[in-house]
Amino acid sequence: MSKAYPITDHTYDCVVVGAGGAGLRATFGMTKAGLKTACITKVFPTRSHTVAAQGGIGAALGNMDEDNWKWHMYDTVKGSDWLGDQDAIEYMCKNAVAAVHELEHFGVPFSRNEDGKIYQRPFGGHMKNFGETPVPRACAAADRTGHAILHTLYQQSMRHDAEFFVEYIALDLIMDDEGVCRGVMAWNLEDGTLHRFRAQKTVMASGGYGRTYFSCTSAHTCTGDGHGMVARAGLPLQDMEFVQFHPTGIYGAGVLITEGARGEGGYLTNKNGERFMERYAPNAKDLASRDVVSRAMTVEILEGRGVGEKGDHINLHLEHLGPDILAERLPGISESSKVFANVDLTREPIPVIPTAHYNMGGIPTNIHGEVLRPTADDPEAVCPGLMAIGEAACVSVHGANRLGTNSLLDIVVFGRAAAIRARDTLKAGAEQKPLPAGNADKILDRFDALRNANGSKPTSVIRDEMQQTMQRNVAVFRDDKILTEGRDSIDAIKASQSDIAITDRSLIWNSDLVEALELENLLSCAQATVHGALNRTESRGAHARDDYPDRNDDEWMKHTVTWQEPDNSVKINYRPVHTWTLTDEVEYVVPKARVY
Ligand code: FUM
Repeated sequence: MSKAYPITDHTYDCVVVGAGGAGLRATFGMTKAGLKTACITKVFPTRSHTVAAQGGIGAALGNMDEDNWKWHMYDTVKGSDWLGDQDAIEYMCKNAVAAVHELEHFGVPFSRNEDGKIYQRPFGGHMKNFGETPVPRACAAADRTGHAILHTLYQQSMRHDAEFFVEYIALDLIMDDEGVCRGVMAWNLEDGTLHRFRAQKTVMASGGYGRTYFSCTSAHTCTGDGHGMVARAGLPLQDMEFVQFHPTGIYGAGVLITEGARGEGGYLTNKNGERFMERYAPNAKDLASRDVVSRAMTVEILEGRGVGEKGDHINLHLEHLGPDILAERLPGISESSKVFANVDLTREPIPVIPTAHYNMGGIPTNIHGEVLRPTADDPEAVCPGLMAIGEAACVSVHGANRLGTNSLLDIVVFGRAAAIRARDTLKAGAEQKPLPAGNADKILDRFDALRNANGSKPTSVIRDEMQQTMQRNVAVFRDDKILTEGRDSIDAIKASQSDIAITDRSLIWNSDLVEALELENLLSCAQATVHGALNRTESRGAHARDDYPDRNDDEWMKHTVTWQEPDNSVKINYRPVHTWTLTDEVEYVVPKARVY
């Protein structure tokens, strides 16, 4: 098949797939280290989903109140419901302060206090003195922190002359017979050409898979492309059952209203005007961890105390903050509330509902960003040549539930860590072994088969079935019956891809084919998510089962590892939560009941 598709060859030291915050931080870090690095991205870099992050990046700067990175670490372990790897969490929280100062020096326009220091606001689950009272830890650029960081990282990439391949769709990893990743194939949408990128290291920085759900805060580009490529290469995904629902997506639109709104003093009410979070989290109240707030809102709605004609959402109040604070600290959500809910938030509450927001699971890695291929003998074995960072990866610093602001932190800390690892292990320009004969054939056969698919179901129909199923069957509360139905349905929908209908056969700007490729990736993610969720018979973090309401550390303090089999089935095994490289500076955070 490769004869029908002439291939343009490229050779780099490193190739990064994705140009969000993690991808950009790795790209210019590797370029700066003298490694010839390409960044392949399906959208222009500053349109990547990092741009949508709002409320802040977490770091214990202590600018507004006393703070300590060890308290940040404690909160992150507790937030993860003890599924996060404590040594990885130590690494992230210890490096957080330097990471934010580095961003400041790169030029991120953070909001400022009177004394000129970076402004910090409270966020859910961030507390002082190992869980006592809320502390302002979210370093903010108004409510556009992701926008500010992404643009700054892109400017740094320009400064270091990083090479970009924009509007290229990554198709699949090139793996050799010894299981080494040797690069990636990509399709250039602009002129329809096919490209083979050979590299010593290939880095998946392709973001999450929020679009498996009908209502999510994720961009339309968040389609689990890296996850799909990894799964097709016979590599595993980890902890995919842990999907975070953000408490405050705008009702009906899914658009994010930052948790920073509650950090600034906003609060939730039910139809009786009651501030119900006081009942669920007497200490942290509206600033409890996200999974806790999302569950409380869902219970209020299910028990008949939701607001609106259908009683199916909750009110978020900000009107008491006054127009000046809203204009200065929350200008972005003031605008989105007007555009998406026709609400003037200086006068009236915003209708909100828990909305799919973040994937804690992903491609398993160590703290250097190296992708793991665990075996029974060696749960830490790595796949040579392959790295993953950002939301695509599962390090795991978020465990079963991510704390707000830790995603922006994750992307800069581990984007940098991947660049350091590449610098320390690669030789710039080192000769690469020839690729095995026929290395592109399978990839192009798949591409060609999809391009010419003439089944009966348009991509949009299959995608809608998947999104409706995930929304209904793999949501905030789960049980055996609903997950079994969901699993059977997602398995059948995945199988129905063989009946997909593609009507546009062109190679240039063919969005029909792009969406079909994305759907295949999404379905790999949906399948791993629902299978992992059904198997995990406990409640932990974002995985809340009515039939197993308690966390069960004896049996379930372990990571789920799922493998996509060639016959479309899913194999599941488990690997231990990683703690054994904690340094002497910290103590293991002993598991206990998680109350806020
Ligand atoms: O609520 C927010 O601003 C989202 C932040 C995050 O997901 O970390």
